[in-house]
Parts: sequence; C-alpha cells; structure tokens
Amino acid sequence: MNKIINKDIFLGLNDIDNNSVDLIFIDPPYNLKKQYADNISDKWESQDSYLEWLFQWLEICLNKLKPYGSLYIMNTTQNMPYIDIYLQKKLHIKSRIVWAYDSSGVQAKRFFGSLYEPILFCTKNKSKYTFNSHDILVDTITGAKRKLVDHRKNPPTLYNEKKVPGNVWYFPRVRYLMPEYIKHPSQKPQILLERIVKASSNVNDTVLDLFAGTFSLGFVCNKLKRNYIGIELSSTYCKYALENLPNSILDK
Ligand SMILES: C[S@@+](CC[C@H](N)C(=O)[O-])C[C@H]1O[C@@H](n2cnc3c(N)ncnc32)[C@H](O)[C@@H]1O
Repeated sequence: MNKIINKDIFLGLNDIDNNSVDLIFIDPPYNLKKQYADNISDKWESQDSYLEWLFQWLEICLNKLKPYGSLYIMNTTQNMPYIDIYLQKKLHIKSRIVWAYDSSGVQAKRFFGSLYEPILFCTKNKSKYTFNSHDILVDTITGAKRKLVDHRKNPPTLYNEKKVPGNVWYFPRVRYLMPEYIKHPSQKPQILLERIVKASSNVNDTVLDLFAGTFSLGFVCNKLKRNYIGIELSSTYCKYALENLPNSILDK
C-alpha cells in the first residue's frame, strides 16, 4: 500500500502516528532557489530562518520513528554541519555518506566545484537497528588483474570479491532522457534510494518519505515490497504519483 499525503510538511506529519515508522528518508528543499511545481518556494530570507524551519519539523518527525528505526537526511554541504550537530543530540549518527557524481554542466573556474551531496544515516537505538549488509554488497575493486590470495589465512584463501559499500557512493544524477526521469529539479536516483531501503528496512516495513517530490522512493518501495508514505505539498507531483504508482491512495 502506498499512501500519498498532499499537504504541507507540518500538517502531513500530523497524520502519522508516533512510533509507527521503520525508516524515514528526508530530502527537503535545500534553500537553493529551485523552481518546484505549483510555485512552491525553495528560498528563505537567510540560512538561519531556513534552519529554524527545518529543525521545527525534524523535531516532530523524530517522534514518528519506531524505537529501532533509522533516518536518512540529505542536504547541502553548507547546511549539513548544522543538521549534523543538531542530530548528534537526538539520534546516533552511524554514517556520514557522500553521494558523489560528475557533471558536464557549468564548471566552477575560480574554486573547486561542488560535486557531492552529504547524507546522514542515523538510528534511534545505538546498537539495535536494521542493517541488511548482505543485500547491498558491491564488487571489491583492488586494481589487480589476477585474483589476490590472502596469505595471512591458513590455508591461504582468495580475497573476498564482494564487500559492504563504504560511505562514498558514486551514482549518476537523474538526467533528461533517463527512463526514470520526471520533470522535477532535484529528483534523486532510484539506485541510491534502493541501497538505503534494502539496507535499513525489511519487506512489509513502513517507510516515510518527507518531501516526496517525484515519489522516486515510492517506486523503489513498491518494487521492494515496503509500505510507503510520502508527504508532498505540490498537487502536480502528487497527481503524477497517484496515476503512476501502483496501489496508491490519496490523503488530502
Ligand atoms: C528536494 S525535493 C524532493 C525530491 C525527491 N526526493 C525526489 O527524488 O523526487 C523537495 C520537495 O519538497 C516539496 N516541498 C517544498 N516545501 C514543502 C512543504 N512545506 N511541505 C511539503 N513538501 C514541500 C517540493 O515541492 C519538492 O518536490
């Protein structure tokens, strides 16, 4: 079941019971003056007023998490240090992830251009939480052409060819003409969201997506058989999800 909540974030969070969600994913407006559908603003007077708004709903959403639940939040390199310090007092920060990508767009000429977005992975409980490492293994890249043998082991064995990913993730951004592309200025790639959902939730768990945008996470949850709740203010984006996301119902 996919639930689409077409409301402002504060009203939408009111509809969610406390201690009811296994995984929360948060990809809010970044205060970068992006143009969302239905004239929804991505511009605050100052970084202070932006962070004040962000901390208000973040505080509320922490109550929605089950005792062994996990939370991922994305933001800009400029805002993330403040969010990190705030969340250190509320949750356990397990990983500081860098989502790195390349860009063929306008290049910075007088400084090193920003080609990553930080993501925090946090849990409510320090040691009890879901982490399905076996579901997210990637190939080990040693640079060697032939298979490497670990001679410290007795008998010597081949090195593992698979490993749990580290905290630097290379995934291309969603581009025009990619099959998953939807007209939206900050759609997140499904391959990145899949890693998060597989690692930090189980089949039939409930995943809450604040600021759902294109509902990219909803499509991933549908594929991976998780229950999905997305909150999004734009009725244009919600209409798209209602028409395209199977088994979706609207809470307006
Ligand atoms: C960074 S985008 C999310 C992108 C999404 N993760 C995706 O992959 O498509 C932020 C979204 O927040 C929505 N939004 C902005 N202000 C909001 C508010 N006050 N309440 C709910 N949604 C809001 C915007 O319409 C926009 O779609």
